[in-house]
This record gives sequence, C-alpha cells and structure tokens, in this order.
Amino acid sequence: MLVCVPAEVRPGERRVALTPDAVATLVKGGHRVLVESGAGNGAMASDEMYGTVGAEVRAGDVLADADLVAHVRPLLPEQVARLRRGAATVGFVTGPGELDGIRALRDNGISALAMELVPRISRAQSMDALSSQALVAGYRCTLEAAMRLPKFFPLFMTAAGTVPPARVLVLGAGVAGLQAIATAKRLGAIVEAYDVRPSSADEVKSVGGKFLDLGLDAVEGTGGYAKELSEDRAVRQQQALAPYLAKSDVLITTAAVPGRPAPRLVTAAMLAGMAAGSVAVDLAAESGGNIEGSVAGQEIWAGGVRLFGMADAASAMPVDASRLYAKNVTNLLALALTPEGFSLDLDDDVLDGACIVHDGVVRHAPTAQLLEA
Ligand SMILES: NC(=O)c1ccc[n+]([C@@H]2O[C@H](COP(=O)([O-])OP(=O)(O)OC[C@H]3O[C@@H](n4cnc5c(N)ncnc54)[C@H](O)[C@@H]3O)[C@@H](O)[C@H]2O)c1
Repeated sequence: MLVCVPAEVRPGERRVALTPDAVATLVKGGHRVLVESGAGNGAMASDEMYGTVGAEVRAGDVLADADLVAHVRPLLPEQVARLRRGAATVGFVTGPGELDGIRALRDNGISALAMELVPRISRAQSMDALSSQALVAGYRCTLEAAMRLPKFFPLFMTAAGTVPPARVLVLGAGVAGLQAIATAKRLGAIVEAYDVRPSSADEVKSVGGKFLDLGLDAVEGTGGYAKELSEDRAVRQQQALAPYLAKSDVLITTAAVPGRPAPRLVTAAMLAGMAAGSVAVDLAAESGGNIEGSVAGQEIWAGGVRLFGMADAASAMPVDASRLYAKNVTNLLALALTPEGFSLDLDDDVLDGACIVHDGVVRHAPTAQLLEA
C-alpha cells in the first residue's frame, strides 16, 4: 500500500496531512509512505524528518503512483486527474467552489473519505478534524484580538494604579467559541458568551465564561447543531445583544449553521456602538461573515473599531494544527487500512458517513444534489 502526501497547493495553506509521527505509525503498520519534498515545510516537518521515520521523499509529482492520498484542503480537479482509477483519498473535500473537484473524484473512479463528514459520535471523536481544527482556530481568534487591543487583557494592580481587565464577548459557543472563551479567560479577561443552543450554557461556564441569558427562545436543529434563525428572531437577538457589545472591549464571533452561509449576528450599527479602540474578530468571515462588513484576511476600521476577518485560521498555527489533523487522519485510516491494502467497509457507520465518493457515486446527498443542480 503506497500512501502519498502531496504538498498543499492552496495559497496560504501551511498544514501538512501527515506529520512524521503519523508517517511512523503507517510505516510500522507495513505501508510505504511517499512524501513530496517540502510538503511539511510550513509545519516545520523537514524532508530529513520524514526520511528518518522511513518515508520516501521525492521532488515533483507523487500523485500518479498513489494507492491512497492524504491531504488537507480539497484536491484540485487537475490533481485528481493525475490519480489512477481505484485510488483512494482522505482529507477535506467539500466547500464553496469545490464541486469540480468532487465531480473529478466521481468521474475518475476515486474513493474519497471526507474528514468533515466523519460522524460526530463518541467512537469517532479521535477522528474529528472539524473539532481539532476549530480548537486551533478559536484559540487563534483570541490571540488576534489580544494583539490588536490597545489595552491589557488581565487586571493589574500596580503602584501606578489599577488597570481593569478587558471585557470580551464571544458569540457562538461551539468548539471554536469555547476555545476562544477559554483562551481569553486564561489571559485574564472577563468573558461573556451567547449561543442559540441553551445546552452550550454549561459548557461556557465550564471554561470560565458567563453565559448571557437574553430571554429569547432556544433554536436547536438536528444532531446538536443550530439551525437558521427566522428574520424576526435574528433581529430580536441583535437588539438584545447590542447593549452587551457596547460595554465590551473585544467581540469574537464564531457562529455557524451547517450547510448554510454564516448567520449575520452583528450589524454595522451594533459595531458602531462599541467604544473607540475596541476590536472585533470574525471567524466566520470566509463563509459570509457574522459581522456586517468583515472581509476574510483583512483588517478594516469600522469607525473606531478594528474589525478583523479571520482567514485560514487553523493554518496560522500549522505545527499543532497538522499534529492534530494527522492524528485524526491516521485514526480514521485505522478503520480501513490493513497490511494488505485499503478496504472500505461501508457497514461501518464511521466509514459510511465519511465516504463521500465511491464507485462513481457521490454518496453524500446534499453534495449530490448540488452537483445535479
Ligand atoms: N463528537 C461529538 O459528539 C461532538 C464533536 C464536536 C462537536 N459536537 C457538538 O456539536 C455542536 C456544535 O459544534 P461546532 O462547533 O462544530 O458548531 P458549528 O461550527 O456548526 O457552529 C458554531 C456555533 O455557532 C452557534 N450558532 C449558530 N447560529 C447562531 C446564532 N444565530 N447565534 C449564536 N450562535 C449561533 C451554534 O449553536 C454553534 O455552537 C456542539 O453542541 C458540540 O458540542 C459534538
């Protein structure tokens, strides 16, 4: 079984799908691993480190020989075209603008495992790349905010006087939001948070935040996720949140609804109500933005507020993001790899959920519908 790791080709992507530790696990399991020279550079994993754990390292194309390709960002159609029929891939697959790549996987007879479709059940927690990468992204959001705030996060009592702690408001308390809260708390800020799912209240408390009870109805969809708000409910939420924004130094937004554009939580008027020098960081900027006016990868001044739209958040911490992602990938592959090869048991609910393309069929219904449309 030849497992190949190409260098990531998307601009700004610094992660690598398999770190040397993960490669060592596969080599121990009896597999050959071929790494494209330089693939680990962004994540501080040198060609030498891969060589030491038993990988072959080659400059140029590694895709043509692969039985299995491990990648981070979705493969481009031209990369898929270089794979041999019957090869398998594992990595992120879906997203805006990725339909051509998925069509290429289907038409080229590739079996593709999508890391974002791994079911979020207890058995598959160690394979949950959405969670591991959201953890990195949430942590990073708070650091981005702290670096931009012209104030301290913690309380200081000094001979020159007392400096009050910063007040941080986090909207959306899923995996990323909880990590943003925990990081702000560790830095000493006073942290408040809100989420439409009431079940997140205890989780917010457990990481040191205060959950805001806005007196609004709960909005919970299926599978423990949120669902889209009605226009009226969204407006009432904005009105209820506005006074909390006005007394916060930092706003961090991380709200998402599966399969939908990011919900608009904060209007320009709400942002204008924050004091001059305040900072807003929008983790959802790439998927439409929780904050009106945010642009992915850019910092703009909205009146006196610095508004930063996060882009490639997990890629900004490529060493640990890659370490966790590679572990997720090898844990998923452990269900399908034997020393003899790759065997996709679709009776296994984890493989069944993650397998987006197999035997010329797109098996994930929402993606298949998008392709037909
Ligand atoms: N293995 C597991 O069982 C497992 C693993 C990971 C996550 N989860 C659960 O899945 C849920 C969400 O995870 P996620 O972080 O991937 O979610 P996500 O990225 O889809 O959404 C982030 C957060 O935004 C919130 N949100 C959506 N619309 C909002 C709005 N209008 N206003 C305020 N908040 C809004 C959601 O409720 C969610 O908490 C959580 O309950 C989490 O505990 C379970």
